[in-house]
Amino acid sequence: MDGNGRWARQRGLPRLAGHRAGTENLRRVIRRFADYGVKFLTLYAFSTENWMRPKKEVEGLLRLLRQVIRRELNHLHENGIRLLHIGRLEGLPPALQRQVKEAMELTRFNQRMTLIIAFNYGGRAEIVDAVRRLLAAGIPPEEVDERLISSFLYTNDLPDPDLIIRTGGEMRLSNFLLWQGAYAEFYSTSVYWPDFDENDIDQALLAYANRKRRFGRLPDDESDYPPPSQDGRR
Ligand code: IPE
Ligand code: MG
Repeated sequence: MDGNGRWARQRGLPRLAGHRAGTENLRRVIRRFADYGVKFLTLYAFSTENWMRPKKEVEGLLRLLRQVIRRELNHLHENGIRLLHIGRLEGLPPALQRQVKEAMELTRFNQRMTLIIAFNYGGRAEIVDAVRRLLAAGIPPEEVDERLISSFLYTNDLPDPDLIIRTGGEMRLSNFLLWQGAYAEFYSTSVYWPDFDENDIDQALLAYANRKRRFGRLPDDESDYPPPSQDGRR
């Protein structure tokens, strides 16, 4: 969810007004994906690097998360949405930790869609945390494989993302789902997050539908290469 600051500057507003406008866009976006039957939606809200922003902005972002949960929780719950958090929860203020845990507890049996909030999340931090827990569990080296590492990540039993959409125009991953995104399709749009609407979602999904995902293999129409010669022999 990038571009809040630029959205605000465009209007001569403080950056935090952009972040607030960004939170006001959540309902519209979540509803659209849920309506399309998307089962897992992850929102990258705050990275482990975002602590390096000015104190006022960091405090504002923490306050906004608190407000968003308070404002949206019942609405999400009534709509069958399960909330999960990924990231270093222990790095957040205790009251916020409690609030996040209560939200997950309340919605844990909901089935329509899983909404994953990446807050104080970093892909590298996640891998560091996984390795630490893996060693602490005394896992022998020969038992370490991709499936095992996946199971030690915050995303444990969640599927890998198919599509990663970045608003705000940058063409980088910025430490998002590094392991899980290995074969995700990447889509970048210059639209700022507060403006990202149903039509922009449709465009992203249409682009995704036209991608050819090969996961390292050859495309289907070339997998019998070399092609048979005229008389049918190779
Ligand atoms: C929101 O957009 C991303 C968050 C860290 C909350 P930005 O704050 O990065 O907006 P820009 O990139 O300055 O426009
Ligand atoms: Mg940015």
